[in-house]
Amino acid sequence: MTIIANKCPDYKVTVVDISAERINAWNSDNLPIFEPGLLDRVLRARGKNLFFSTEIDRCIDEADIIFVSVNTPTKTFGEGAGKAVDLQFVEQTARRIKENARSNKIVVEKSTIPVRAAETLATILHSDNNSVQFEILSNPEFMAEGTGIRDMETPDRILIGSKDTPSGLAARDVLMDIYLHWVPKERLITTNLWSSELSKLVANAFLAQRISSINTIASLCEVTEADVAEVSRAIGMDSRIGAKFLNAGPGFGGSCFRKDILNLVYLCEHYQLKEVAAFWEQVVSINDYQMERYVRRILQAMFNTLVGKKLAVFGFAFKPDTGDTRDAPAIYICKRLLEERACLKITDPYALDNARKDLQGIDGSVEFIEDPYQSVEGVHGIALITEWSLYKELDYQKIFDRMVKPAFIFDGRNHLDHQALHEIGFNVYPVGKPALTHL
Ligand code: UGA
Repeated sequence: MTIIANKCPDYKVTVVDISAERINAWNSDNLPIFEPGLLDRVLRARGKNLFFSTEIDRCIDEADIIFVSVNTPTKTFGEGAGKAVDLQFVEQTARRIKENARSNKIVVEKSTIPVRAAETLATILHSDNNSVQFEILSNPEFMAEGTGIRDMETPDRILIGSKDTPSGLAARDVLMDIYLHWVPKERLITTNLWSSELSKLVANAFLAQRISSINTIASLCEVTEADVAEVSRAIGMDSRIGAKFLNAGPGFGGSCFRKDILNLVYLCEHYQLKEVAAFWEQVVSINDYQMERYVRRILQAMFNTLVGKKLAVFGFAFKPDTGDTRDAPAIYICKRLLEERACLKITDPYALDNARKDLQGIDGSVEFIEDPYQSVEGVHGIALITEWSLYKELDYQKIFDRMVKPAFIFDGRNHLDHQALHEIGFNVYPVGKPALTHL
């Protein structure tokens, strides 16, 4: 919405939320999320044509277009628990829109929802006899965290799904007019509603599938002395395969991939497509396997016991340039390391507050330390889980000197210079490559 406000000074954009705390943060210089470049752009538009408010009912009534961007977590209860999407917030929002709208509205699905959810939305919105007309559009979001600004300002594509009726097409054109302020026409794709809804899930499923695929190859590389980075490079230069999303790691995280694939699996099961469901479910199973494999590699390398050993954890966010830790591999990995009775010293430039919440109530010894040099004092090993660029710049001789020997480093992202670390004296365990040890 900030980018829309920046690019379309002729539109008034109001972001509403039921949380006053969150809205207050949006109205301050301390935004509720960390995203490079965002504060700058908020400051450019806030108070001019960008507003943050808790007056939901008034804003619904005043708006011509309403973007529904509420969260759609995985259901934790009842039918479909663990897989299906919990649509309660979407439904509550639809009811609130219906109660407060006194003029026709275009309602845009921004949240990621199951295919055919627009139908449910339309049924609720038109469920009594008032004369207000609602046109539903699907406009899924493809931006990624950390690169959100670039992804919004120069998107690969903008997808808009609509009904193929005169009013559906007219609403689609109204939304297209907004994006045409800065997005070239050839990057705007229009489809029917169901294709648009499904494309969002499929895009994330394909991206996650690439990561699981390369992670399976990483495990094969580790036992065959092949190098996964070399394999990625060799296959990625085939333009049919492409080079992106082929970095092996400790597994994918984030609020979307697991949730969206499980949602896809649930949909396939719902339509009795058992084999298709099993295919996609395997992407998640391999991800779980990859996180566990990382823990086992640490355990095996460190003489099959971590009891009382100190480990520094470099990075807790699910990826760099964000403080977000939702479904971060670090959560699973740290819990497992604590189960093995390791003592953890976790460091991360932005995610320590979230890390504290994620590990609250878990038994074991955990410290949260901002300064990476302080975090390695007296540790036996380092587990690098998030590839923050600052970890490349550290003085590893200084770090080595502060550690217990033999010193181990488990580079879960192949982020560091392994040869140089080995020369300093570290026993180095990359992903998908043979270890470099002095043992
Ligand atoms: C993902 C998609 O990339 C966006 O297009 C989509 O809009 C978004 O989900 C969403 O549905 O909201 P995001 O979760 O922010 O974006 O982050 P990604 O860059 O996709 O990374 C996801 C995870 O995959 C991270 O844990 C990252 O470390 C991991 N990853 C990524 C790898 O392990 N290897 C790679 O080569 C790439």
